[in-house]
Amino acid sequence: MLAADLLSAFDQLEKEGSESFLGAVSETDLEAARVVYLGAKKGQLRILQKQIPEVEKESKPEVGKRFNEVRESLKTAFDTANRKLSQPVSTSSFFDVTLPGQRLRVGHRHPLTRTIEEVTDIMGRLGFARVEGPEVEDEWHNFDALNIPVEHPARDPLDNFFMQVSELTSRSVSKVPLMLRSQTSTVQIRTMDESDPPIRMIAVGRCYRPDTVDATHSFMFHQMEGLMVDSDVTMSKLKTVLRLFATAYLGHDVRIRFRPSFFPFTEPSVEVDMSWGKDGKQWMELGGAGMVDPNVLKSVGYDPDQYSGFAFGLGIERLAMRRYGIDDIRLFYANDQRFLCQF
Ligand code: FA5
Repeated sequence: MLAADLLSAFDQLEKEGSESFLGAVSETDLEAARVVYLGAKKGQLRILQKQIPEVEKESKPEVGKRFNEVRESLKTAFDTANRKLSQPVSTSSFFDVTLPGQRLRVGHRHPLTRTIEEVTDIMGRLGFARVEGPEVEDEWHNFDALNIPVEHPARDPLDNFFMQVSELTSRSVSKVPLMLRSQTSTVQIRTMDESDPPIRMIAVGRCYRPDTVDATHSFMFHQMEGLMVDSDVTMSKLKTVLRLFATAYLGHDVRIRFRPSFFPFTEPSVEVDMSWGKDGKQWMELGGAGMVDPNVLKSVGYDPDQYSGFAFGLGIERLAMRRYGIDDIRLFYANDQRFLCQF
């Protein structure tokens, strides 16, 4: 027999034998394949081995070496297959289709998100469109344009989060004084700067003040600002809008009261309180409001003889607290699933 033929028969045997071993699906299958390829008397390998003495003398070392290789290779394939089949069936990959399914945990919208969506909807029905403004503000929008003079205590660095941001120009680096807005009234100015009356807008968003945290105060909270500017806006319209809003969001049993107050950007100004507590006999400050001061109208280029306006700023957390009977504002920010999952 020619050595070349025998070598190619070895190649063929190595391929077929390995495939049979590794493809066996049971130990019985594997044993049958072992007898066919590695059987001591009539196995394929044994049959080819018997032909080695017949090849040309000079090719015998090469053929003998190849025989050893093929035998080792087939043994390795057999051992691998054997180990695989003798392992116990893994229960972790076993899927029991009769088991009841696992309940998927569905996410909840944060109570403040829900509140913001609902108040936006109510104000939308009253004709007020929602606008956005930046949380990082300059002092002009947060104070100057709102008629809050430089010496006013509200501008005290201890009562605000000021920051200095570097502005890079091609020639220099200058420090720009900015701040986290302390009130959403900034958006009144931005809106009036950009558009002409009539205006009916709300702005809902975060405000920041270094207030001492307690059950009704947080250093970060949300306000809803409202602004209406037109030729015939009056204080009684302001009171009507606030009452309509409060009963729509808090229900008909809520009572609203207005106390004379002072804000540099409204004249006259009021503090708005809502009835509070289990028996509804206490009061809680909800926000501030008033008629837009003529100085503010002038600062944005409106003629105060032609236009008047009202504005208000309400605390979103306090609205949500009354609506859902929550007695501590810190619960909104504690990220406690037991609290959040109730909404
Ligand atoms: C203002 O911020 C005025 N800009 C409101 C305003 C707007 C007046 C337009 C006139 C015209 P005040 O500081 O009172 O006002 O805040 C308004 C409301 O925001 C408060 O009544 C309260 O509900 C909420 N608020 C204020 N500070 C906090 C705080 N630290 N934590 C939670 N809520 C707060």
